Amino acid sequence: MSAPCADLVLFGGFGDLATRKLWPSLFNIYVSGEMHADSRMILLSREHVSREEMSERVEKVIAPVEESLWQDHGQRFLAQLYPVSVALGSDDDDWSEFVTLLGERPEGIRVYYLALPPSLFEVACVGLSTHGLINSLSRLVVEKPIGHDRESAAEIINGIAQHFDEEHVYRIDHYLGKEAVQNLLVLRYSNTFFETQWNNQSIESVQITLAETVGLEGRVTFYDGSGAMRDMVQNHLLQILALVCMSPPNRMDAASIRQEKVKVLQALKPLTGSAVAANTVRGQYRAGVAGGRPVSGYAEELGGKSHTETFVAIRAHVENWRWAGVPFYLRTGKRLQHRFGEVVVQFRPVPHDVFEGHAGTVQPNRLVIAMQPDESLTMTLMVKRPGRGTVTIDPMTMSLDFPEAHKNIGSGYQRLMLDVINADQSLFVHRDEIDAAWAWVDPIIEAWSSSGAAPLDYEAGSWGPREAEFLLARDGHSWAPPYGLEESEL
Ligand code: BG6
Repeated sequence: MSAPCADLVLFGGFGDLATRKLWPSLFNIYVSGEMHADSRMILLSREHVSREEMSERVEKVIAPVEESLWQDHGQRFLAQLYPVSVALGSDDDDWSEFVTLLGERPEGIRVYYLALPPSLFEVACVGLSTHGLINSLSRLVVEKPIGHDRESAAEIINGIAQHFDEEHVYRIDHYLGKEAVQNLLVLRYSNTFFETQWNNQSIESVQITLAETVGLEGRVTFYDGSGAMRDMVQNHLLQILALVCMSPPNRMDAASIRQEKVKVLQALKPLTGSAVAANTVRGQYRAGVAGGRPVSGYAEELGGKSHTETFVAIRAHVENWRWAGVPFYLRTGKRLQHRFGEVVVQFRPVPHDVFEGHAGTVQPNRLVIAMQPDESLTMTLMVKRPGRGTVTIDPMTMSLDFPEAHKNIGSGYQRLMLDVINADQSLFVHRDEIDAAWAWVDPIIEAWSSSGAAPLDYEAGSWGPREAEFLLARDGHSWAPPYGLEESEL
């Protein structure tokens, strides 16, 4: 079934995010029939781009990856795209072409997607208001980063709130659109046995890793002003943590889900002062070998020295009845050995080994939810080795692989764009979540910066600074290898 007809306006319609993620996602939902065939996609930018030029640029991005689909649908897709120029923020911005285009469908759903730097969010909202382009069917989508700390985030959020009610604001975190992240909710709330074990009585620790092999990819200025903590931890990692830890919502609607997530973020044990040094590791990559080729270090890519971290590992705690005492190990970094995203739930050992060690070592159960590059669910169970004679116990994995998932869902944006058109805010972030996440992150960044210490260096293509290993080793734990790889392959 297709979503209702809508005008989708991409501010920053020819920018980096639009080109890499949004155009391909729009194309995929268009050809899947999930987007209404009459929906219009308006690419708004400062520069004037003609229809021919737009078509060439879009084709160049999509056609090579979606060859046969492009042949069948490319021209019809292009016919639904409209390039429009508005010099946002400048004195001579002219909105007339845009206003006329939207005026052709005065009663329709309008999605304004701000793929812009946050400094332009308010400018865009003021422009939309001034030109009478906001009505009860208008929705605003904003991308991270929302601010660079709690205060600036509040300013941005309050600025937007002057023009759009909370129920019309969609703060996107594309990780929430990933298939495996949504599967986490289904797994927890549609199976009796997981939910009854989902607490500190049964779970010993949880690891969440989002590891990347890429470096700066040309985003030098943005990244250096941000670092891994603001770029990945404040949003993606904490959102996944919130989904892992939240209590069952009353129902699967936006208000109930978001209410439970906020409670988790507010329950994060604050890390301040000396606790920061004891529970966090920050690193920056130096030159090394990644993907089989030599790569430069961060400083060379940047063209100068900097204290910005490209790696973070944190030992966190959620202080509530359900999770008291369970360490949550969070880790993310660029130029690491493998690209993978996983949640590893480590269950406690059995309270008493009835085989008294004669049958082999009884290992605790482990559930691995792999998000990328491939999606899968794996449970390690102890089973009897088949055969007669004395009982021998072996760990075996029960695995569900979803090879089609990644292909169908793309980077998460497809699902989320459809949700906006369908007015479903369940997988979008409430302002209170942003606030709670910054409230936890800010003191950590402050402690790092007031210590004046440089991030620890690690070789590109490694697993980050050794200190990240020690962070777990002191609790008797170690980072789980990416699903499908043995420790020996690392
Ligand atoms: C973005 C970050 O939000 O997520 C990037 O700004 C990062 O630095 C990207 O590379 C990772 O997303 P994905 O979907 O490729 O894992």
